[in-house]
Amino acid sequence: MIDYKLRQTGRASLDFLSAFGPAIASMQKHQQVALTKAGLTDDAKLADDMDERSEQIESMLANEPAFRTSNMMGEWHAEHHARLAAEAFTEIEADIQSTFERLKQGKTTLSVNPDLTPDKYWLYPIHRTTGGWDGHPHMGFIHGELIHRYVVGKSTRPPAAGSSSADIYTQRKQFAEQAPRRDYKKILEIGCSSGPFTLKLAEVFPNAEIHALDISVAQLEQAQRNGNNMGHAWKLFQADARDTKLPAASYDLVTSFIVLHELPVDVIGDILRESFRLLTPGGDLMFGDVAPYSAMNKLNAWRTDYIAKFGGEPFWRGSSTMDMVGLMKSIGFVDVKYYGVAPINYPWVTYGRKP
Ligand SMILES: C[S@@+](CC[C@H](N)C(=O)[O-])C[C@H]1O[C@@H](n2cnc3c(N)ncnc32)[C@H](O)[C@@H]1O
Repeated sequence: MIDYKLRQTGRASLDFLSAFGPAIASMQKHQQVALTKAGLTDDAKLADDMDERSEQIESMLANEPAFRTSNMMGEWHAEHHARLAAEAFTEIEADIQSTFERLKQGKTTLSVNPDLTPDKYWLYPIHRTTGGWDGHPHMGFIHGELIHRYVVGKSTRPPAAGSSSADIYTQRKQFAEQAPRRDYKKILEIGCSSGPFTLKLAEVFPNAEIHALDISVAQLEQAQRNGNNMGHAWKLFQADARDTKLPAASYDLVTSFIVLHELPVDVIGDILRESFRLLTPGGDLMFGDVAPYSAMNKLNAWRTDYIAKFGGEPFWRGSSTMDMVGLMKSIGFVDVKYYGVAPINYPWVTYGRKP
């Protein structure tokens, strides 16, 4: 972890934000009581169509205090989390500059492409963050370090039944360990953002050369700090994963973690085709993400869809309901697998091999 110390106000703000997750989860238990009474926990009573199902459930919950309160809290959190994290950063910005300068030096290199024009979907204010991934010059540190470590990492409580005690960093390692081989020579990570999964790839495949790309320069700069902080020699570069301009058959593993649910379905298709092109024959593709709706009961699928819609995730439903296996096979992947890691079906693995 990069060495820095939060000031008291920023630390308290982030602590406050981390309390929302468990508080909202406990209100969902109260909602569950009302839903059970109304028979809406039964798959047979809920519509197949998600819009109809939403109408069914939300009209019943509309006057439930636990629903209204959790909506209000969710809304406040969505609107304020990035702003408060940015303020926590501003308090330490002057102190951390020398660390940032030092971590530009090292064997992890970053090449930026000033000619890259991001697609409209990428400019969407994802997670309701003003300006999206590059919405602040230091969004890499703000999101990838402060929000990950102090908000997401602390507020995500494993579900009670069949719980997994894995934290958000261990989950990334567990996902990397799903790969069928350990002898990859050259790995490409797509959508590396600030590099939390890149760090785990380096742990699981210590002998591989690691390349990682993203569109966001702010995120890549933080990935470079993380790489140099740990003495890694990653090649980071700014590129659109749909058209990387890299030579064909360059990598024996192409991988990503929690990128798919932030992409429109046609972009997922383009990225999978480009990944296929980049793989050597016999190479593996392994993308990890959230579980598809088909792996949940109808109520949980509605809840996921509802939280995604109001949390600034416009592409979640599309990626969670698409025919991923059919798409993978149509591109030419073989031995296609599509499964959740036990015990909580997270991460969800999309795997295929280039023949
Ligand atoms: C949720 S983040 C990835 C998180 C990261 N892999 C982790 O382990 O936390 C999604 C990333 O995908 C990147 N991204 C989205 N579309 C992309 C594209 N077409 N090419 C490259 N990167 C893309 C975004 O800029 C963002 O940094």
